[in-house]
Amino acid sequence: MEFATIYWQDERVYLIDQTLLPNNEKIISTNDYHELAEWIKELKVRGAPAIGVAGALGMALAAIYSSANSKDELFDELVKARGVLSSTRPTAVNLFWALDKIWSEIMHLRDEEMFRIRLGVVTKALSIWQEDRMICMRIGKHAATLFNDGDTVLTHCNAGSLATVMYGTALSGIYEAVSQGKKISVYADETRPLLQGARLTSWELNKSGVPVTVICDNMAASLMAKGKINKVIVGADRIANNGDVANKIGTLSVAINAKYFGIDFYVAAPMSTFDFNIIEGSMIPIEERDRSEVAMFNGIKIVPDDVPVYNPAFDVTPAKLVTAWISEKGIAMKVKDIRNWR
Ligand code: MRU
Repeated sequence: MEFATIYWQDERVYLIDQTLLPNNEKIISTNDYHELAEWIKELKVRGAPAIGVAGALGMALAAIYSSANSKDELFDELVKARGVLSSTRPTAVNLFWALDKIWSEIMHLRDEEMFRIRLGVVTKALSIWQEDRMICMRIGKHAATLFNDGDTVLTHCNAGSLATVMYGTALSGIYEAVSQGKKISVYADETRPLLQGARLTSWELNKSGVPVTVICDNMAASLMAKGKINKVIVGADRIANNGDVANKIGTLSVAINAKYFGIDFYVAAPMSTFDFNIIEGSMIPIEERDRSEVAMFNGIKIVPDDVPVYNPAFDVTPAKLVTAWISEKGIAMKVKDIRNWR
């Protein structure tokens, strides 16, 4: 897809409201970082790289619209904005990566005049936005080499254009392979509870002319058993130093099934998703979300009020189930190769 999921125009942040897809393609905009933070929590903008970009652009809003009359007041506002934005979603490390990059820029400019600091934050945020597109394109070039003409590929959640500024991570490889003339068809897991696969992955692949079929999450093993899937590719929200991968809940089941049936399981992510400070996947913070996401379906209650619900948004797939990791730096077949990317 050749349009940006999130962008900066006339000193406002614009994004496509992903909670309304596929029924309503609505672009919304804000000049208030508090509102943007709420939108990140509500998944109007989602997917690890897009969350990072949203965080950076949120800092740009804070810098521009701060009513500070002194540098001290401006710094106070920026510290507050960083706190508000960083408390939106805990698992996607891209958010903290982007906020840290903005913060380094602020520190670098701390002795400059106020307008230079404001300008520096906006410029850095826009460079993170631009870099995301380039990185996703490079991931796609590498990942495409893993796909052959005729492949049928399973993906889980949405690691496409909608999860980044443009192109995606896991789906970038599919877009690139298709543009090279390879015939690829995709099965998209619906991805309970919020249906990113059914609502978003199918929407964007279909819009781009890539054949896609949606299946319920619990159908994947059966399709694998019938030989209908010959590769799996997913994105990631955080990858630990040992190669363990945190991604949308349900990814672990897909990886276990793929291993059982001898199907390659690939993970595509930018370097900003690799967290070398986290020794292993069990240490990755996992977001838990509201019970209503599981207990309600289509506005109808499907779980009795007095029955508890557990709703972790992500799970961790051990490195031993991953065939290869793909980043803008290339393809790593072994965990030690990832560490060489540092
Ligand atoms: O809760 P979400 O929709 O933000 O979760 C998104 C995922 O799990 C994606 O697979 C991941 O962020 C990869 S994005 C390229």
